[in-house]
Amino acid sequence: MGVALFSFNRLFVLSFITLGLIPQLAPASITRHYKFDVQLQNVTRLCHTKSIVTINGQFPGPRIVAREGDRLLIKVVNHVRSNISIHWHGIRQLRTGWADGPAYITQCPIQTGNSYVYNFTIVGQRGTLWWHAHISWLRSTIYGPLIILPERGVPYPFTKPYKEVPIIFGEWWNADPEAVINQTLQTGGGPNVSDAYTINGLPGPLYNCSAKDTFKLKVQAGKTYLLRLINAALNDELFFSIANHTLKVVETDAVYVKPFETNTILIAPGQTTNVLLKTKPNYPNATFFMTARPYVTGLGTFDNSTLAGILEYETTTLHSTLPMNKLPLHKPILPVLNDTTFATKFSNNLRSLNTPQFPANVPQKVDKHLFFTIGLGTNPCSQQNHNNQTCRGPNGTMFAASINNISFTMPNTALLQSHFFGQSNGVYSLNFPISPLIPFNYTGAQLNNTNVGNGTKLMVLPFNTSVELVLQDTSILGAESHPLHLHGFNFFVVGQGFGNFDQNKDPRKFNLIDPVERNTVGVPSGGWVAIRFLADNPGVWFMHCHLEIHTSWGLKMAWVVLDGKLSNQKLLPPPLDLPKC
Ligand code: C2O
Repeated sequence: MGVALFSFNRLFVLSFITLGLIPQLAPASITRHYKFDVQLQNVTRLCHTKSIVTINGQFPGPRIVAREGDRLLIKVVNHVRSNISIHWHGIRQLRTGWADGPAYITQCPIQTGNSYVYNFTIVGQRGTLWWHAHISWLRSTIYGPLIILPERGVPYPFTKPYKEVPIIFGEWWNADPEAVINQTLQTGGGPNVSDAYTINGLPGPLYNCSAKDTFKLKVQAGKTYLLRLINAALNDELFFSIANHTLKVVETDAVYVKPFETNTILIAPGQTTNVLLKTKPNYPNATFFMTARPYVTGLGTFDNSTLAGILEYETTTLHSTLPMNKLPLHKPILPVLNDTTFATKFSNNLRSLNTPQFPANVPQKVDKHLFFTIGLGTNPCSQQNHNNQTCRGPNGTMFAASINNISFTMPNTALLQSHFFGQSNGVYSLNFPISPLIPFNYTGAQLNNTNVGNGTKLMVLPFNTSVELVLQDTSILGAESHPLHLHGFNFFVVGQGFGNFDQNKDPRKFNLIDPVERNTVGVPSGGWVAIRFLADNPGVWFMHCHLEIHTSWGLKMAWVVLDGKLSNQKLLPPPLDLPKC
């Protein structure tokens, strides 16, 4: 056994050397195998029983646990009628874009009866990430935590928790979300909304017929718990709070931050937040609600409901106490639905830990300055999409969304293959604009013409380009906060503000010392955010709003990052089982 392990580790270390990624101390990295059977499962919530698409019959899906440096081999077998692909959200996928997962970007989807092995190594990352389906709206039921523990023997830079608890937020739909999005895209109108928010799949007692589906966090007095919070909701940013308890934020998007305390956290779809929960020193003779409800800035309809779970202290025989259901129940007070002041304060509190062990490697020089507008728009009512009825978008049009006024058209084949095999002709063009072709007052009065352009336009970046990208929200059809997610990279959030970005004044205020490093950032409603990243990962990388309805409407684009000169700076060849379209 010991011998076998030893030779295995040597093999593994060798592969690290050839990758040019050898860690300072060769860790005891291992390969972890998972099998994901995509299958239907009957699930009941709010007195509605539905057959939903799941992984291994579980809702939410199974937890993946690995250590920094480990290789993951996850075999996904599709037993359902829908095509499927899975994205490992936040994993950098250094040179392994083939395993990233967004359908028609890095792979063709896995068809019924077929399988695909996602094969990647976790390099230089530790913390909470997650995985989810990345095709249509299937991630409404196909999602789960992806937990990366530090290398063996490396402690957390904070109090060692007594226990760790993944907490994943989602949305429950009585209707079939696939039918919802299909109908929405056909009529051109706004989508129906979910019926409940869930915490680890459970809506909790504030909904009808739901009291038995309540998440309970059972704790002991005088201990520290690490809550790994994940927002897997389709279309809603969420406030979250636990009554009479303070949360200490220690990590976001699998990067440590300078700890700070807060009663409420704000978490957008795609984001993860690790918090320490210190329980009361003594048994409190009470129970506590933990609640979440949306942060809403747009004009559309939304699910205006509140999920609740319960924080319960375990008693020891030393305490004679009332039964749980007789104890006083405390409820937290959440910010109002559109509390942008809270949102701004919260995001301004986030700073990289930036210690010698966990430095913030902020690009200090910039090779490429980019300015992208983000927002809604319209397409004319198209004939094939409705039965001679007017479309249900603004003034009889169809809703769209865009970046630099280009609404992204999904290709029929995977962009990464087209790129790798030099067959981009007729699939995509490399002319994504570096700034809007027609500048306007982005956050000013409503425009008369809200039409977008359409196309599969990508932006090319030579290897190791240092990019500064300003993401500017527009007020077209209403300003709105957009959680923008970049695949393949973390970026540093060097600045943000309201109104139009001012290239002359605003960069002076950028934080180039300890900005927060993440993979999903909220573009402030009616404002802008500036990010920097180093394009050191060759491949084709998706960038999109993580509000699923906006992605569906075209708020997405992709980058082509070219190979570097050295052999360890090139995209690896595709695996043999890569699905075909
Ligand atoms: Cu979590 Cu492309 O998404």
